[in-house]
Amino acid sequence: MTLDLFDDPPREAREAIGPGAFVLPGFALPFADELLSAVKAISQDAPFRHLVTPGGFTMSVALTNCGALGWTSDRRGYRYSPTDPDTGKPWPAMPTSFARLAREAASAAGFDGFAPDACLVNRYAPGARLSLHQDKDEHDYGAPIVSVSLGMPAVFLFGGHERGDKAVRIPLQHGDVVVWGGEDRLRYHGVLPLKDQPHPALGSLRINLTFRKAG
Ligand code: SIN
Ligand code: FE2
Repeated sequence: MTLDLFDDPPREAREAIGPGAFVLPGFALPFADELLSAVKAISQDAPFRHLVTPGGFTMSVALTNCGALGWTSDRRGYRYSPTDPDTGKPWPAMPTSFARLAREAASAAGFDGFAPDACLVNRYAPGARLSLHQDKDEHDYGAPIVSVSLGMPAVFLFGGHERGDKAVRIPLQHGDVVVWGGEDRLRYHGVLPLKDQPHPALGSLRINLTFRKAG
């Protein structure tokens, strides 16, 4: 048997950004077109909206959801809901291709058996940003967060366990996936204001999918 460097293709490259946090460059690229057409169908059922925070601030990022639970916010607080408060209907079902991609990405980051029940779909136009926050409205912090970037590039901020901790800046491109779980599950994170750098797949927009086990 000859030893060929390419007999056993290397696993997807992964870059550690913490003991339980990894960037998987290009992991979602083979599925990007499929993901984007599913997002279009989802947003026809459950339109993108700009939520208001309990503090009365209107978010610059537009959001919708798919899956059994969807994240929402109003003056009363943040929560997960089985129905879309705008339409009263259940959120669109999570496509099986979404759940499979999320499970495979989690597994590539060392978290086997990830079964998300919520997928937040965030849409960023130029100038939209997400200030530093923790994802902590989920019941079970044992499951990781899987975040898929599509369209325009963004700078992801990955901080520490305190809001004031220094955050590293991670450039994310179309098709990149970030996974954080374990001891990194509650790290503060956010997105810098988006620059207008149009992408062939989405023009002047960025779509981010975050998969969570919320219930
Ligand atoms: C999030 O924190 O929920 C989204 C992060 C991102 O858009 O990359
Ligand atoms: Fe988040």
